[in-house]
Amino acid sequence: MPKKVLVIGAGGREHAIVRALKRSPQAPEVLCAPGNAGIAADARLLGVGVGDVPGLVAAAQAEQVDLVVVGPEAPLVDGVVDALAEAGIAAFGPRAAGARLEGSKAFSKEVMEAAGVPTAAHTVVRTVDDGLAAITRYPVVVKADGLAAGKGVIIAESEQEARDALHAFLVEHRHGTEQVVVEEHLVGEELSLLALCDGERAIPMAPAQDYKRIFDGDEGPNTGGMGSYSPVPGFDDAYVRELTAQVHQPIVDELARRGTPFHGVLYAGLMMTPDGVRVLEYNTRFGDPETQAVLPRLRSDLLELLTRASEPGGLDGAALEFAPDWAVTLVLASAGYPESPRTGDAIGGLDTVADGVEVTHAGTRRRDDDGAIVTAGGRVLNVTALGADAAQARAAAYAAADLIEFDGSQLRRDIALRAVRQTESPA
Ligand code: AMP
Ligand code: GLY
Repeated sequence: MPKKVLVIGAGGREHAIVRALKRSPQAPEVLCAPGNAGIAADARLLGVGVGDVPGLVAAAQAEQVDLVVVGPEAPLVDGVVDALAEAGIAAFGPRAAGARLEGSKAFSKEVMEAAGVPTAAHTVVRTVDDGLAAITRYPVVVKADGLAAGKGVIIAESEQEARDALHAFLVEHRHGTEQVVVEEHLVGEELSLLALCDGERAIPMAPAQDYKRIFDGDEGPNTGGMGSYSPVPGFDDAYVRELTAQVHQPIVDELARRGTPFHGVLYAGLMMTPDGVRVLEYNTRFGDPETQAVLPRLRSDLLELLTRASEPGGLDGAALEFAPDWAVTLVLASAGYPESPRTGDAIGGLDTVADGVEVTHAGTRRRDDDGAIVTAGGRVLNVTALGADAAQARAAAYAAADLIEFDGSQLRRDIALRAVRQTESPA
């Protein structure tokens, strides 16, 4: 009997995970709840939403799956892995106690301090006055304590902006926040470094670069991510291992000490400052769209790795092998994203995909009347291309993305440009 795996989620990240699981030599049967119009071509969809924890557990039980892989943060914070464990179902992802690293920035800071991980200086406050009193210079960073889908961080340039941010979070309780982290503003290059954790050890994945702003040149509001690439120049294996020893392993050790061992992906959002590496935040799941660039490069068996990570110490002796190829991922977003994404636009050009190009669906659905694939979210599609170098991967990704059309489509034009420039041999 082939193994049966259930992936929870509905975005481009989950589509990339589904595809990578299907490349496993174990040839598993892959299910996805709830999935989207593109995932439907690669996995059998179950009609259960990510917010319905009892429904997800019941579906996993009914299908007798061997492993559940949780994509997004919300069900992790809601304790889906705990509920699955109680039902005797193995799952890849942290229990709620570990997902709190992402669910509460104040908790995350407390663990970083206890673990000795380098991070920005900070104060946790519950009132606007205490927040203002904690600020010694501008710009300053004001962070809502709960999950905020990337919208809970404000970089305040002045006292007025800081006051407005504190008011929005602590008086209007935007994002349901009771606490705010006020922290030192850091300057440097950002890097997403993800590690697979088995409760005892952290094994780094290939580094990736994410693009958070909507417009070229890092202008405009923050988004969930508009593109990514992997590898990242300057971060070779030895350096990545050194960083993991500084930013992942101490957290895994600290949570094990507390009796809440961390299993799953520990995603460190890093800032490389002139004074060294600093952790901006932890996420407790695969990054989106970093995963779309990293997993196509993975040569190891993802199913085996995720299964082993779900067991205490299961990754002992495991190695992650990545192809030397470059991967560039572009996000096609809908009109109005991120403020007010428009949905229902018909998508054309999906039928011709070149070799070495992978199109994953993020926010799509099939229209009832004619079966056409239409936009159904802010981020609509991801186009990932592999190439022998950054320039080739980048050119192939843009060539493929330019064949896809829908009204009001937004696409950044500068994804991976820096990697191309950094790796070009001097003329
Ligand atoms: P976070 O959700 O904490 O990663 O914050 C989202 C984005 O805000 C990060 O990717 C950074 O671009 C920015 N950011 C967060 N914390 C800081 C900081 N201390 N200094 C400068 N920028 C920050
Ligand atoms: N790309 C940012 C994230 O996954 O949170």
